[in-house]
Amino acid sequence: MDFDSKKYYVDTNLPSEIATELYEKREEFTWWSGGDGSQFQVKRKDDAGKWIGINQDLIAKDSLLKSIHGRAHGELHLFKFPPGRMYNWHVDGTNLFNINLVFEESPMGISLFKLEEGDYDKTTTHRSLSAVLPVKYTPMRWLIYNAQIPHTVLNLSDKTRYLLSYTIKKDISELTYTDLVAELEAAGVAGGT
Ligand SMILES: [Fe+2]
Repeated sequence: MDFDSKKYYVDTNLPSEIATELYEKREEFTWWSGGDGSQFQVKRKDDAGKWIGINQDLIAKDSLLKSIHGRAHGELHLFKFPPGRMYNWHVDGTNLFNINLVFEESPMGISLFKLEEGDYDKTTTHRSLSAVLPVKYTPMRWLIYNAQIPHTVLNLSDKTRYLLSYTIKKDISELTYTDLVAELEAAGVAGGT
């Protein structure tokens, strides 16, 4: 298929200086889900309003995030995805794009972009030609993910999948997905997927 995968995601191959520390602490956090099958994430505040979420000061300790935080104004989140689950096809409601990292190789933890228009969830025909793009993560490396293109995640493995995500909001970011990809390419990073 002739298309540019960089429109959807780019594996920067840049390591994160904060990932190991967060992964080792993953069971110490308070995990929260909005219910109704909503995703699990580290709870941000306790009942008294005290911050108990991911320490946002870690952004300044990560080379890539630090270099863009002044324009992206993003937030660090840690998500977990239990075995045997999948998301609906969706575009992120508030995120323009995300900078994501998975910690371990997980061939059966699958993230897909939808390559053609249509409502895959509701069609009653067998759309065997519905084209998708699997996202090839490199563990412990940052990957830029275009959250405004329909995507989903399936965890078909028997292990929980954890995702570190620096989420960049549509309404406050001064940096677009396309800008960041172009800047990294100009800097000799993210040269190919
Ligand atoms: Fe999403």
